[in-house]
Amino acid sequence: MAARQVDTTLPKDVPTQLLIGGKWRPAHSSQTLAVSDPATEQVVAEVADGSVEDARLALEAAVVAFSGFKKTSAYQRSRWLRSWFEAILAHRDPLARLITIENGKPLTEALGEVDYAASFVEWFSEEAKRVYGRTIPATTTDRRLLAIRQPVGVVAAITPWNFPAAMITRKLAPALAAGCTVVLKPASLTPLTALYLAKLWQEAGPPDGTLNVITTSQASAVADAWMSDQRLRKVTFTGSTPIGQELIRKSADQVQRLSLELGGQAPFVVFDDADLDLTIAAMLVSKFRNGGQSCVASNRMLVQRNILAAFTERATAATAALRIGHGLTPGVEIGPLIDRPGRQKVLDHIADALAKGAQVQTGGRALDGSGFFVQPTVLSGVQPGMRVMEEETFGPLVAISAFDTEEQGVALANSSPFGLAAYAFTASAGRAWRVAERLEYGIVGLNEGLPSTAQAPFGGWKLSGIGREGASEGLDAFLEEKYIAWGGIDA
Ligand code: SIN
Repeated sequence: MAARQVDTTLPKDVPTQLLIGGKWRPAHSSQTLAVSDPATEQVVAEVADGSVEDARLALEAAVVAFSGFKKTSAYQRSRWLRSWFEAILAHRDPLARLITIENGKPLTEALGEVDYAASFVEWFSEEAKRVYGRTIPATTTDRRLLAIRQPVGVVAAITPWNFPAAMITRKLAPALAAGCTVVLKPASLTPLTALYLAKLWQEAGPPDGTLNVITTSQASAVADAWMSDQRLRKVTFTGSTPIGQELIRKSADQVQRLSLELGGQAPFVVFDDADLDLTIAAMLVSKFRNGGQSCVASNRMLVQRNILAAFTERATAATAALRIGHGLTPGVEIGPLIDRPGRQKVLDHIADALAKGAQVQTGGRALDGSGFFVQPTVLSGVQPGMRVMEEETFGPLVAISAFDTEEQGVALANSSPFGLAAYAFTASAGRAWRVAERLEYGIVGLNEGLPSTAQAPFGGWKLSGIGREGASEGLDAFLEEKYIAWGGIDA
């Protein structure tokens, strides 16, 4: 365990107020919200705790801004986004430091997240210029039929704490590229990164009110205030499946468009012809990125029985070697869980599996002292019916289960109501293709532990969500189609 006492002084220029209509303001109620470092449990900042009144003002500002922003040229929006991209990279160090302090992930990972966040802004600054329409052959010569695409309107973005920068830019960059204006509610656990990103957007010079930020402890009330208003046309959300289901219900009255990136329960299927060096390296990234707190984290290691012992031994050695501690300490590879309930869920999954017959190969316990740390853990003998095989653990737990045939491996992988990401490892091209086609998931990593990238469509099947982020699909999500029939043409 690396030392937990480190200097957590925040960058000096981090905003702590709400951003509404281009102005930084305290909450209407003057209330503030404490932000803590999950590695020490110490409060590191207080930010404005926005209320329903503030949320309504933010929506009003976005509505006013939309009337002008939708008329700006795609090339102008592209330039604002390009400036934002450059500003994010120029502030890579303070942004990464904020991410580590409020989220807990190691600094090297936080730097990687800033690059990942910036890549969405770069990609959509370029895609902004490629929103094309169509002409459609008419049945008579006096008509012309056209389909054009226009911004969907004012968008609410509700973002999670596990990627405090990248989940914001993945939503905001395409929305702004399309000409939408945004009200953003970042996770209350990680508001500082969001506020810093918003400051950089403002400094890029776009019109006031294009991005408004409400940090709040009253997430549900703020969502209600926005979604009961007919002028809000779209909600884009990353978070848990139960909250996503709640948003589907809330969207019904105003028939708001939805993009939902929800929970996962990713299988990591290892066939007996897999290259074990490559597989273990992929397992480390897919399982331990952000300490396992990712929707695409592998949750169930399904290993063909004749290589079970070799895989378990290699996975255990690699996991036991991981260095745990405060994310700002050089060399640390695993930080804390985000909070007490997050840590308890991992411990509950371990206890449940052990009670039902699994065995600990390494780890298995919380660390004493402050901070929400759980040892990187490997469990063998994991079976269907254990919680770790059915629910998303969101923590540093490698749960290993065996299968015999390819059919059994695929069937086990598909035996989940979730369908975000799945992974498969094999040296056979035929098997790779066959298995990829049979997996009921929106994302498949074939001999690959980190498939996420700005230019590919990211999203889930079944309980894992609706819609795609990234790629051209990510921009489509913020556009409405309009069909124009033009008659009376003297051909
Ligand atoms: C997530 O965990 O929601 C996103 C992970 C990713 O973009 O790879």
